[in-house]
Amino acid sequence: MTASIIDPVPGAAEVAAVPILSNESPSLRPFWHPVAMSGEVGPQPLAVTVLGTEYVLARMDGRVTAFEDRCPHRWFPLSAGTVVDGTLECPYHGYRFSADGRCVLIPARGPEASIPTKADLRPAWGVQERYGIIWLAPEEPLADLPVINEWDEPQYGREQIGPSRWKVSAAHATDNFLDVSHFPFVHRGTFGDPADAVVPEYELVRDGLTFRYSYRHLAVNPEEVRLLHGDDSADQERAMTVSYVPPFTVVAEVRYLGTGVVDIVLVSSLAERPGSTRIFSMLIGTDAAKDGEGARIYEEKILLEDKDMLERYPDETFPLDPSAQFHSRADRMTVEFRRILMEIVSRSG
Ligand code: FES
Ligand SMILES: [Fe+2]
Repeated sequence: MTASIIDPVPGAAEVAAVPILSNESPSLRPFWHPVAMSGEVGPQPLAVTVLGTEYVLARMDGRVTAFEDRCPHRWFPLSAGTVVDGTLECPYHGYRFSADGRCVLIPARGPEASIPTKADLRPAWGVQERYGIIWLAPEEPLADLPVINEWDEPQYGREQIGPSRWKVSAAHATDNFLDVSHFPFVHRGTFGDPADAVVPEYELVRDGLTFRYSYRHLAVNPEEVRLLHGDDSADQERAMTVSYVPPFTVVAEVRYLGTGVVDIVLVSSLAERPGSTRIFSMLIGTDAAKDGEGARIYEEKILLEDKDMLERYPDETFPLDPSAQFHSRADRMTVEFRRILMEIVSRSG
């Protein structure tokens, strides 16, 4: 289904003209979306949903391919097929497709028959494997993937968190991953420090459709982190640098100033369909190197706190016009997020 980009906000006549974003907004097609962990794409085709459109992923010729999940013949889902001799075979009438999407065999016509291009598959604009994740761009992307130099540094570990499916929009999820003033409230069960609610002034730098901000705060030092860091203090001071890449990717670099621990959390949200968002995350750094499983369990606990809170939103309403909601100075990053999404929607008309 194709959703309209601009929908009225239900029950709010005074802001009825405010554009809101849906998990199926076509404006989000020219971007990289996380669609699977690398380990999920094996010898069999895999179905994924991006902005309401089904794609089939398959490893053919040693690379990951992505096509619309619909056989050109009778529109059967190719994700139900198999990879045979380096080609993707449709299970209905046995048509075969090469890694570049070309239809190379129509069994009912025999191997010598010429095959028109109308029988070819429709590929995504691009697919790439980076940071242990498969990324898909339905159309030529307007922004690159984030650069995480630490990914290739041998002293750091890499640990997969999730993925998990949340009943919330990708915009709400990303809004939360960029936000810091919820820490003392939503994350009371992990690192949130109720005595450190004030968000200090921080610097935010905009660069094209991306931005980055840095700030310092105190984090409670729970038992799991005491063990991981070998630090028994009640609080740890953390310097955070958070980068945003549209539409729904956030990279948070967390430096613990007392111990020198560096943890980088990549979290990216796949807008599947309304009310369904798949959260992909990788932890890169000191904790993942020291105790990958312990670090993963702790990160999953933090994400669960966010999930439990976010799934209480009654619907997907996410107004893009910053004037629709109240903001304080602590919210500069989430206001910038709305501005960028608004620009993206306006750009696509
Ligand atoms: S529907 Fe795929 S081969 Fe006929
Ligand atoms: Fe959170």
